[in-house]
Amino acid sequence: MLWLATTFLAALAHAQQYPNNTSPGGNDTDNSPLNFATSPPFYPSPWVEGTGDWAQAYAQAKAFVSQLTLLEKVNLTTGTGWQSNKCVGNVGSIPRLGFPALCMQDSPLGIRFADYVSAFPAGGTIAASWDRGEFYRRGYQMGQEHRAKGVDVQLGPAIGPLGRNPKGGRNWEGYSPDPYLTGVAVADTVRGIQDAGVIACTKHFIMNEQEHFRQPGQFEDFGFVDALSANLDDKTLHELYLWPFADAVRAGTGAIMCAYQKVNNSQACQNSYLQNYILKGELGFQGFIMSDWDAQHSGVASSFAGLDMTMPGGTDFNSGFSFWGPNLTVSILNGTVPQWRLDDAATRIMTAYYYVGRDKVNVPTNFDSWTRDTYGNVHYYAGTGYGLINEHVDVRGDHFRSIRRMAAKSTVLLKNSGALPLSGTEKWTSVFGDDAAVGKYGPNGCPDRGCNNGTLAMGWGSGTADFPYLIAPLEAIKNEVASNGGVVQSVTDNYAYNQIQSMASQSSVAIVFVNADSGEGYITVDGNMGDRNNLTLWGSGDALIQNVSALCNNTIVVIHSVGPVLVNSFYDSENITAILWAGLPGQESGNAIADILYGRRNPGGKLPFTIGSSVSEYGPDLIYEPTNGHGSPQDNFEEGVFIDYRAFDKKNIEPIYEFGFGLSYTTFSYSDIKVVKVPAGAYTPTTGQTMAAPTLGNYSRNIEDYLFPANATRPATFIFPYLNSTDLGEASQDPDYGVEYTWPAGATDGSPQARIAAGGAPGGNPQLWDVLFSVETTITNTGSRAGDEVVQCYLSLGGPEDPKVVLRGFDRLSIQPGQSATFHADITRRDVSNWDTVSQNWVISEYPKTVHVGASSRNLPLEASLDTSDYQS
Ligand SMILES: *[C@@H]1O[C@H](CO)[C@@H](O)[C@H](O)[C@H]1NC(C)=O
Ligand SMILES: *[C@@H]1O[C@H](CO)[C@@H](O)[C@H](O)[C@H]1NC(C)=O
Ligand SMILES: *[C@@H]1O[C@H](CO)[C@@H](O)[C@H](O)[C@H]1NC(C)=O
Ligand SMILES: *[C@@H]1O[C@H](CO)[C@@H](O)[C@H](O)[C@H]1NC(C)=O
Ligand SMILES: *[C@@H]1O[C@H](CO)[C@@H](O)[C@H](O)[C@H]1NC(C)=O
Ligand SMILES: *[C@@H]1O[C@H](CO)[C@@H](O)[C@H](O)[C@H]1NC(C)=O
Ligand SMILES: *[C@@H]1O[C@H](CO)[C@@H](O)[C@H](O)[C@H]1NC(C)=O
Ligand SMILES: *[C@@H]1O[C@H](CO)[C@@H](O)[C@H](O)[C@H]1NC(C)=O
Ligand SMILES: *[C@@H]1O[C@H](CO)[C@@H](O)[C@H](O)[C@H]1NC(C)=O
Ligand SMILES: *[C@@H]1O[C@H](CO)[C@@H](O)[C@H](O)[C@H]1NC(C)=O
Repeated sequence: MLWLATTFLAALAHAQQYPNNTSPGGNDTDNSPLNFATSPPFYPSPWVEGTGDWAQAYAQAKAFVSQLTLLEKVNLTTGTGWQSNKCVGNVGSIPRLGFPALCMQDSPLGIRFADYVSAFPAGGTIAASWDRGEFYRRGYQMGQEHRAKGVDVQLGPAIGPLGRNPKGGRNWEGYSPDPYLTGVAVADTVRGIQDAGVIACTKHFIMNEQEHFRQPGQFEDFGFVDALSANLDDKTLHELYLWPFADAVRAGTGAIMCAYQKVNNSQACQNSYLQNYILKGELGFQGFIMSDWDAQHSGVASSFAGLDMTMPGGTDFNSGFSFWGPNLTVSILNGTVPQWRLDDAATRIMTAYYYVGRDKVNVPTNFDSWTRDTYGNVHYYAGTGYGLINEHVDVRGDHFRSIRRMAAKSTVLLKNSGALPLSGTEKWTSVFGDDAAVGKYGPNGCPDRGCNNGTLAMGWGSGTADFPYLIAPLEAIKNEVASNGGVVQSVTDNYAYNQIQSMASQSSVAIVFVNADSGEGYITVDGNMGDRNNLTLWGSGDALIQNVSALCNNTIVVIHSVGPVLVNSFYDSENITAILWAGLPGQESGNAIADILYGRRNPGGKLPFTIGSSVSEYGPDLIYEPTNGHGSPQDNFEEGVFIDYRAFDKKNIEPIYEFGFGLSYTTFSYSDIKVVKVPAGAYTPTTGQTMAAPTLGNYSRNIEDYLFPANATRPATFIFPYLNSTDLGEASQDPDYGVEYTWPAGATDGSPQARIAAGGAPGGNPQLWDVLFSVETTITNTGSRAGDEVVQCYLSLGGPEDPKVVLRGFDRLSIQPGQSATFHADITRRDVSNWDTVSQNWVISEYPKTVHVGASSRNLPLEASLDTSDYQS
């Protein structure tokens, strides 16, 4: 196949000899052409130029950085160490200019490690709303909260993992395995966060599709295993995994976090091809690249490969040593790293700072990640710097209202044989399941939500926030029924069979809550090391449903889950009268599900993934055991772009509930497709040269100027930019100091560089967003209730290697009964293009293209052809 032949391999010939950028080799019985793939070198690292709407921020950043000393620039780039300051990550400060130590804080759904904050619906849940306005508002409100706590960089949104395999532990932090839906969601989220004056850090770049073996480490059962390598080809990269990153860059994301694992056998945070060529080159990223926590594995090599900030700063958590910090100071002083590269890193950080207007926000960090105590040590690990550390500022505003609305709008009605909506006057309402009530330890009972007790409203790991409260479904249903004078009873122990049976048989309606959880790999829950071990319900959910529905002919199932679950055992039972997928709804969980159950809101969410009938239908499994001895497990993405619905379509597998599916309490009809060709010029590859790399200011060559100030207070393991000796080798404390590597050709070259044809502006060549077609259809509400319909537009690109259809437009329309609305979608050049590995650009193929509009990926009643003949390249 074409894509196998023309991979990153193109540049294999330039294999390079420096630490860890490529480490092919090892053993694997798999003969895949991707096996032990290598990543081509690309140098020098592109310098920021202030393109797009970044010119003013860039000018301000340049002026700021020009005043800085070498030590101050190093401070901006290097974290001061794990638990060295208030946030999950802080860099050094610039006291001379009154510039604070920038604060980076988790997470993509709220503020981690803080009180008086909101717990928003997770990314993979809000995706099910398919609502651009809600994507933006959620981002904006999260941004407002971060801003008011004194956070400079919110460590979110997450779009890697994309969700190649539904068992991937952190999929729920992101949006959807569809790159278009994810691209729209991430762009609106980035705009929201940044409009509130906080830098968004889009993560994890890239291919961070599983938790097992994401980092090199010691494992109980296997000993040392090196980080997994996600191996993929250039076409899959562009058409699938990179697609939403292009949208995030185009939306102006100020920061991007590089991933833990390797890509094509090169560590993501020192992968020059991905960071220099793809992200800063082709996508024209103007902000800065920050490492994931401990994902930096080298000093000089990662500078050359485009890393701009190391987090949390140490070679290892609390080692007190850094690949940068003193080593970065030394590498400039000994002439290995040119000044322009450090200047560029500092300028990129400051460009993002000015771009979102942080110079106008003056809120010092007023919380501490490591304790909720009001007074304590600001240097938590060192145990020094006692003072006021937590001001307990309530930053939630009235966000609870939108959280409730967002959660309800993200709820997907999968089945309804007329049971819903409930009237609230049912004679006997029963509620079943551990998932119906708050667990006995309270909603925050397990650190980082690292257990599955009680109702599930977020996954586990660093992508969490503490709940200010958690409204459980049982509480909200009780309020509802009691206020109508009805009877409501519950059993929240899934294994209390006798009680379940006696109550089920008396029920007019039984509502069963079930769940499935996952999270980040540093916590194992019920044997699941981040990634799920299976797609079935947890806590014997299938048995619970079976036990209730055997005795009650009006059983409603509500699923709280991180992604697809297997519903085979119950979905088609006649006693299951309704099924709802409620995702991970956040703090207003119960109120939101009650709004849907009792009809205050008409469900309009649609599945952002496919529900199949077995895990194997989704394609290659995750790697749970080493496949390469102690070397990097080789994870070959041989399925290419065929994940989720594209895989089901390709293999002709009938899903149970397809991507994009969701019902309403009303009905809609589709009619009148109209396609208008919009005049646009020919696609012009970007040409020309960049400016030369600027150097900003001078630095002293007197080594004495870099020594620790005599009066410096030095908290234990705190990372400073200073040297402890005028002997650079001694100051470096690196046993390999001065070892002559052949640094990659071009790494130090600051002369003008050729521009990249597919590049030219943040996000890529601006002409990729030229609108070529406008599509319109009429949607009519044919039922008797007002409702929302998520109208979806798919394209068939027509080639033998293309998916049957790909999502390329959607809108959520609110329509009154009997009324009609017009759906409109703009089809851009990017939408109808394929990545061409030979020309390294997007091209429109000669294959006939069709646009389809409908209610889901498999319910597409309207179609029209798109005449792209004028645009073929
Ligand atoms: C690869 O595996 C073969 C067979 O198990 C073994 O003989 C050989 O030493 C291995 N090579 C490496 C580099 O580990
Ligand atoms: C670097 O940052 C540390 C920590 O904030 C600060 O104490 C030190 O003064 C800074 N150094 C310089 C040269 O600004
Ligand atoms: C290269 O990687 C290995 C294994 O991850 C690690 O032990 C070593 O420190 C790395 N070397 C450098 C220079 O980063
Ligand atoms: C410099 O980096 C090396 C690893 O390359 C590390 O071993 C050493 O501790 C670092 N030095 C300092 C002072 O942090
Ligand atoms: C320069 O400094 C860096 C950082 O300590 C070190 O890794 C490198 O080996 C040094 N190079 C030379 C030529 O001394
Ligand atoms: C609660 O969580 C703990 C820790 O994960 C687990 O051992 C226990 O079984 C859970 N209890 C229930 C009822 O799920
Ligand atoms: C799947 O994993 C969940 C959570 O660990 C567990 O409760 C369930 O029993 C597993 N299912 C199967 C079929 O093994
Ligand atoms: C449905 O519920 C009724 C009780 O209302 C029961 O008699 C019947 O066996 C149930 N059917 C199934 C398929 O569970
Ligand atoms: C459910 O069972 C009740 C009696 O338990 C019966 O009155 C009702 O008609 C049944 N409903 C359906 C849809 O079978
Ligand atoms: C250290 O001394 C310098 C020069 O006298 C002074 O400017 C600075 O404020 C002092 N720093 C501390 C932490 O006392």
